[in-house]
Amino acid sequence: MADVHAVNFDTKVTKFSDQPEGNPPTRRRQTIIFSNFVQKLIMNSKILVTGGTGYIGSHTVVELQTAGYEVIVVDDLSNSNIDVLDNIEQISGKKPAFEQFSLADAAKTDDFFNRHRDIAAIIHFAASKAVGESVQLPLHYYRNNLVSLLNILDCQVKYGISNIVFSSSCTVYGQPDKLPVTETTPRKDAESPYGNTKRVNEDILQDAVRAYPQLKGIALRYFNPIGAHPSALIGELPLGIPQNLVPFITQTAAGLRSELLVFGDDYDTPDGSAIRDYINVVDLAKAHLVAIERLLQNQNKTGYEVFNLGTGNGYSVLEIVKGFEKVTGLKLNYRIVERRAGDIEKIWADTTFANQELGWKAEKGLEETLLSAWNWEKRVRGIR
Ligand SMILES: NC(=O)c1ccc[n+]([C@@H]2O[C@H](COP(=O)([O-])OP(=O)(O)OC[C@H]3O[C@@H](n4cnc5c(N)ncnc54)[C@H](O)[C@@H]3O)[C@@H](O)[C@H]2O)c1
Repeated sequence: MADVHAVNFDTKVTKFSDQPEGNPPTRRRQTIIFSNFVQKLIMNSKILVTGGTGYIGSHTVVELQTAGYEVIVVDDLSNSNIDVLDNIEQISGKKPAFEQFSLADAAKTDDFFNRHRDIAAIIHFAASKAVGESVQLPLHYYRNNLVSLLNILDCQVKYGISNIVFSSSCTVYGQPDKLPVTETTPRKDAESPYGNTKRVNEDILQDAVRAYPQLKGIALRYFNPIGAHPSALIGELPLGIPQNLVPFITQTAAGLRSELLVFGDDYDTPDGSAIRDYINVVDLAKAHLVAIERLLQNQNKTGYEVFNLGTGNGYSVLEIVKGFEKVTGLKLNYRIVERRAGDIEKIWADTTFANQELGWKAEKGLEETLLSAWNWEKRVRGIR
């Protein structure tokens, strides 16, 4: 099967402009027919979201459903909870279809795609993502993250599914020599097996697209996703001690942790703490919608594209701590400790390419985002 979705799109547009002579449609009528057609096309588009009960995946499911897409989620629930589906339904009014299995299982993945040949595009979030754990369990990380993508790509080729959006990370840049980082900033050797899986998966996707011209892929390099849906019904729920700053902050504020550890205050930054580009998870989710539409509507310029998804602003750890205290009125118990192995000093994105080429821009401010993270933590912990 060829690029069914794209072919249908072109064919129908051609038919539409071939109106019978003697009954030329007015421009307004043309516009209405065209927008009805586009709407119908969207409504008929089934998107597979792997890892869709996870943090970023669940927010993306909501955005896709809100835009009229039919979503099917595959997740093995290794790092998420089935209840997320009910919470998605509360927000969007629709529970996504769901299947539980590991995409690292080739037979189950093939069986799934065989039964869902009408999938128009895939957003591949499913992966193991804990940097520290990946150092302890490198084989698990390589197997889960690489084999899952390989299995999906095999099925895309076999069942003629052209479009895939892949979750990559700014971790591929390491500590860049020049800031901010653009998409052409050279990638560096990964600091961890997890980081290496992102780098290798980008290469696998790029090579697959070269070899199979019907494939089209977009790798989105996320900076630091934080915050939660404004409804506080979905958000980030890390297992164990959070590795990321904001869940560590909210769990400390909620009393789950006795203190927040700030790793290093002797970096070459204005206040000595490390700097990152924190992006609201809803803004990030919306970028996936744009990327999917770019692929479905054949607007991509090359078969494989890469975009940085950040805000373009760098904030230090201490600025985030102060920002959280300001918006919540709470005092955080924090302690400055040694630098953490593997952490880089500072990074933030140049978002010009994503802004101009995707027409997407992160819109939510830091304070609103920190408050959303706190509202989510409060709801999860039953704090009023
Ligand atoms: N959160 C971040 O800071 C961040 C930053 C950059 C990139 N990313 C990437 O974005 C993606 C989503 O991250 P997240 O923060 O939402 O993580 P998450 O752990 O919340 O979500 C990932 C989901 O994938 C599922 N999963 C893992 N392996 C699977 C498999 N083999 N088969 C089926 N399901 C599987 C997990 O159960 C989980 O629900 C990941 O690929 C991650 O590496 C995340």
